[in-house]
Amino acid sequence: MTNAYEREEIKNKVREAADIVQVIGDVVELKKAGVRYTGLCPFHAEKTPSFSVNPQGQFFHCFGCGESGDVFSFVMKYNRLSFPEALKELARRYQIDLPEPHLSEADRERIREREVLYAVNEKAAGVYEQYLATSAEAASARKYLEERGVPGDVIQSFRIGYTPDTSVAGWSFITSKLQGMKMPLAGIEKAGLAVRKETGGYYDRFRDRILFPIMNVSGQVVAFGGRILGDGQPKYMNSPESPVFDKSRTLFGLYQHKENIRSSRKAIVVEGNFDLVLLSVHGIDNVVAPLGTALTRDHIRSLRGFCDEVVMLFDGDSAGLKAAMRTVPLFLAEQVDAKVAVLPDGHDPDSYVRENGREGIIELVDNASHLAEFVFDVLVKQFGTTLDGKNRIIGELRQLVSSCDDTVQRSLMVGHFSEMLSITTEQFQSSMSGPKTGQRQKEERQGASLQNLPRKQRQLVEFVVFYPELLGELLEAGLEDVVTSPDVIHIVDCLKELAARGPLSADRLLMELAEESGERQYVAELLVQGSPGDEEGEDDWARHMCDELLVWLHEEKKMRSGASLLHKIKEAQLAGDDVLVMKLLARKQEMGKNK
Ligand code: GTP
Ligand code: MN
Repeated sequence: MTNAYEREEIKNKVREAADIVQVIGDVVELKKAGVRYTGLCPFHAEKTPSFSVNPQGQFFHCFGCGESGDVFSFVMKYNRLSFPEALKELARRYQIDLPEPHLSEADRERIREREVLYAVNEKAAGVYEQYLATSAEAASARKYLEERGVPGDVIQSFRIGYTPDTSVAGWSFITSKLQGMKMPLAGIEKAGLAVRKETGGYYDRFRDRILFPIMNVSGQVVAFGGRILGDGQPKYMNSPESPVFDKSRTLFGLYQHKENIRSSRKAIVVEGNFDLVLLSVHGIDNVVAPLGTALTRDHIRSLRGFCDEVVMLFDGDSAGLKAAMRTVPLFLAEQVDAKVAVLPDGHDPDSYVRENGREGIIELVDNASHLAEFVFDVLVKQFGTTLDGKNRIIGELRQLVSSCDDTVQRSLMVGHFSEMLSITTEQFQSSMSGPKTGQRQKEERQGASLQNLPRKQRQLVEFVVFYPELLGELLEAGLEDVVTSPDVIHIVDCLKELAARGPLSADRLLMELAEESGERQYVAELLVQGSPGDEEGEDDWARHMCDELLVWLHEEKKMRSGASLLHKIKEAQLAGDDVLVMKLLARKQEMGKNK
């Protein structure tokens, strides 16, 4: 057993060898900003980066959600590992020998189990791959792939394999192969390759199927998706979930395509494995596919590390349209731009690309509609525009809008939808909030709105509470034009008043706010928690954050004037005032340039 001193020693060795920028850079797109690196926080949804990595101090911090720590905490949190597992992961990556015994028996068991599962899946992938490529009995599978237009190099790059029918290889083809390679039966079962019979003994899960190995983002095989040759049932069979395979977090193709997704800043989502492979055959290599499940928030989050925009490519006649509706709040929550492209009836991406080539797909993707607009069109088709239809549409949209916590985006959506429904935004919104009870009104006055502020505005108040000396700069940048919450405005007013009477400080602010008010409670809680900048001991933290907020204020103001400009253009068009339309369009173009 190692003692505490040795444990510390090992930890330090790994810490010295590991490069936090490299480790985080694998999963978060980092940009150098002065001495630090910044990027979008992987632990909460955001559009402007408030996540920063400090290479000197080897720590990360997110001003948005407050998550912070060293390389170990990052690996633990990101990969959901215990400390010993994270240590082990990093030690392996940086080739540092770890004496095993400092792990608890349970931790060691978990690590061993995962390693067995990776090994079993890897070996199985090798067997299936080899069998498809070389065995005489795989001729029908090779022919099938050829007929579907999958050439050898693509088979190789996706490591596509084949497992024979029982008439050829019996019921334990893979099980006995793997056992011959010293893989433990328990691991083969846990990986889902062997299924235990009630009467004792085992049989192979996959038989007579084309197998697509499913890799995690680091390229380790964690599961298989198996398609039957021809028309049998079930068409697809996937490995069951296991300690290394979580369906709702895994995307087929992400490992193979992540660099292309990163460089094109865009990911295309298709439903089927063959769709993805065929698109790749035609040179479209920024595609992923969930494994027969609807897109989850975790899927979107894992894409967010690589791109700004996700385009869902759906069959015209599939359940995809319904699925698209359900993803709206997920994309909004993760703040990823989403679009939808629908294929003509009877086509899936596979058949469409074979008929229309790469150009055909690119055209569809380039003309994809924004998810919100797409959903609106679907609703109109579904409910019609009678009074009753409209009411039902409003009901659906209301849920959708209230799931979005960005005020600007929300008001744009409200504006957009109200216009499309030919109702006023007030009408739309009054149906949104419903009648208010006396109790609820009281809660709102009492600072409850501070708890529910959109994230960026919350950052802003927190910042001025801790760094009131920088308030002046933010005011000059138009803070008061952007912030709408009455509670925030009140806090800012108090700070302004205090500033006129003497040096600003957080405690003076606290005393200035009415006793038992929601604002006072909120500020008190903030002060107890302490400033995120404090813990890090960074002198330039406040400066840096202030700059980020200035940028945000600037963009926010621009966006608002852009939104109102659009509104004016619409009005001018309606009024038939062409001269004004031209003028406004020119101004809009000018604004775009100055971005
Ligand atoms: P083909 O073109 O018919 O070979 O299949 P595809 O890859 O286009 O798949 P399809 O569009 O039929 O289905 C989309 C995805 O849903 C597949 O890639 C599978 O992941 C999943 N799926 C389809 N059918 C089944 C099934 O019978 N069982 C399971 N578990 N998943 C399925
Ligand atoms: Mn298909």
